[in-house]
Amino acid sequence: MPRALILGGTGLIGRAAALRLLDAGWQVDVTGRDPARMPHEIAAAGARFVAADRGEERQLRAAMGDGADLLVDCLCYTAADARLLLPLAGNATSTVLISSRAVYVDADGNHANSGTPPRFDGPITEAQPTLAPGDMDYRSGEGYGPNKVAAEHVALDSGLPITVVRPSLIHGAGAATPREWVFVKRALDRRGAVLLAHRGSGVVHPTAAANLAALLETVAGRPGARILNCADPDAPNARDIARIVAGRLGHAWEEVLLDGTAAEELGRTPWDSPHPVVLDMSAAEELGYQPAGDYAATVAAEVDWLADAARAGDPAGILPDADHPYFGWFFDYAAEDTFLAARTP
Ligand SMILES: NC(=O)c1ccc[n+]([C@@H]2O[C@H](COP(=O)([O-])OP(=O)(O)OC[C@H]3O[C@@H](n4cnc5c(N)ncnc54)[C@H](OP(=O)(O)O)[C@@H]3O)[C@@H](O)[C@H]2O)c1
Repeated sequence: MPRALILGGTGLIGRAAALRLLDAGWQVDVTGRDPARMPHEIAAAGARFVAADRGEERQLRAAMGDGADLLVDCLCYTAADARLLLPLAGNATSTVLISSRAVYVDADGNHANSGTPPRFDGPITEAQPTLAPGDMDYRSGEGYGPNKVAAEHVALDSGLPITVVRPSLIHGAGAATPREWVFVKRALDRRGAVLLAHRGSGVVHPTAAANLAALLETVAGRPGARILNCADPDAPNARDIARIVAGRLGHAWEEVLLDGTAAEELGRTPWDSPHPVVLDMSAAEELGYQPAGDYAATVAAEVDWLADAARAGDPAGILPDADHPYFGWFFDYAAEDTFLAARTP
């Protein structure tokens, strides 16, 4: 039986990857710090929890044991993290370092976390220039991308069969920041209208955790040192996403398409980019990758997970609260109601 070890495997990516690999007959071990965070779903399907801090070399070595056919690192944020990964990768047939599309820069040096949004010429291939490697705080907007690039370089320069995977905005059950909540909550609150900035035309490519899991299985069978994008087969805009989520929850609302004259706090969404950000998936497809499904099919897992939690009173405390640093920005119902009431009939 082939064995997979997923570092930081009790979260969004680990959950989808474990389910896919277990279903395909793998033994799956996932590391984390807190056994209480082990998702019941994957434990019930046969995954094993291994307590190991990502920063502790001895604990990592113990988790690795005699080796693995597939090693996936969901917690590689810096060059130092990557250096800790190398000895483990030397004991794995195929290794995947989860990086991010945030490494890409446009012709003016703008990127996912720059003040000016990036403007790419078309779908982004893996040959697109990246930020320079850096070692400032990786938890900051300016440090996240440079540190990921530094980690990628350590991995790719090692000569080991490490595949760097660059996902975009990941969705799935178990997401720590479930972006679709901006529409799920509105649908559950039975809002009569949804406001969409820039006429809902913004596109930032989504990546289903289930599609990422499918890519991991492909890479397991094709070890190699390379970089692969990972995103859904389609790239819906914010308006499409609002419709898909509302449709899944059986809710209908008026779509209010705002233009550039609308107040800044109205109609914001996580996909509200002035220029499309789309990842080219040809390299993964050439390797044999086949997506698990398109956005509408795959996002159902996260929408149902959120809606079930809300209907049950959120016993596990997974739903973002009103003070959530990411979501507070998206829920100014009072401003929306004032705007809607002031419209000329
Ligand atoms: N989310 C996105 O949209 C997105 C987009 C592009 C790239 N990425 C990349 O995806 C990766 C994150 O994957 P994910 O979304 O699956 O993460 P996640 O949902 O946050 O899960 C990570 C898991 O790792 C465990 N963990 C955290 N710190 C740990 C440590 N020091 N030692 C051991 N375990 C630890 C956590 O459990 P405990 O707290 O119990 O230990 C958690 O369950 C990152 O590399 C990120 O850069 C994410």
